[in-house]
Amino acid sequence: MNILVLHGPNLHLLGKRQPEIYGHQTLQDINMALDRQAAASPHPIMLKIFQSNHEGELVSIIGDHIDWADGILINPAAYTHTSVAIRDALATIAVPVIEIHLSNIYAREAFRHHSYISAVAVGVIGGFGTHSYTLSLDAMIQILQEHVHST
Ligand code: DQA
Repeated sequence: MNILVLHGPNLHLLGKRQPEIYGHQTLQDINMALDRQAAASPHPIMLKIFQSNHEGELVSIIGDHIDWADGILINPAAYTHTSVAIRDALATIAVPVIEIHLSNIYAREAFRHHSYISAVAVGVIGGFGTHSYTLSLDAMIQILQEHVHST
């Protein structure tokens, strides 16, 4: 199972960025937790993890993995609320996508309540801090397992 993990803008500053909202863990902590989780899985899982502050770069990374990715975990960060381009890229690649948020975007400002990404995702996991990522990886492994058994 090849799973692409994408972190959007400002997430490289986790740990320093508004810790009262996003917690104290760094992006490296999250990535290491995902790597450990993948290694501990009974299924063979390859993770490729990227962070970018640039919308076009995220679009390019998605497109570059069209023949590689079996599933995508993405925290689009602020692009959640603005990016038709990232949504179109995810719709094009046509593999299961899980949208992730550290915070509960529905408990925050009104402009965060709309996501351009959710409509092309199988599901959204948010509000659990760094656990949002590990819960999402679990969910993705289950989705891909079910897919393998149904084909
Ligand atoms: C976020 C929520 C977004 O509204 C915000 O712009 C982010 C992070 C989250 O993980 O909670 O940068 O995606």
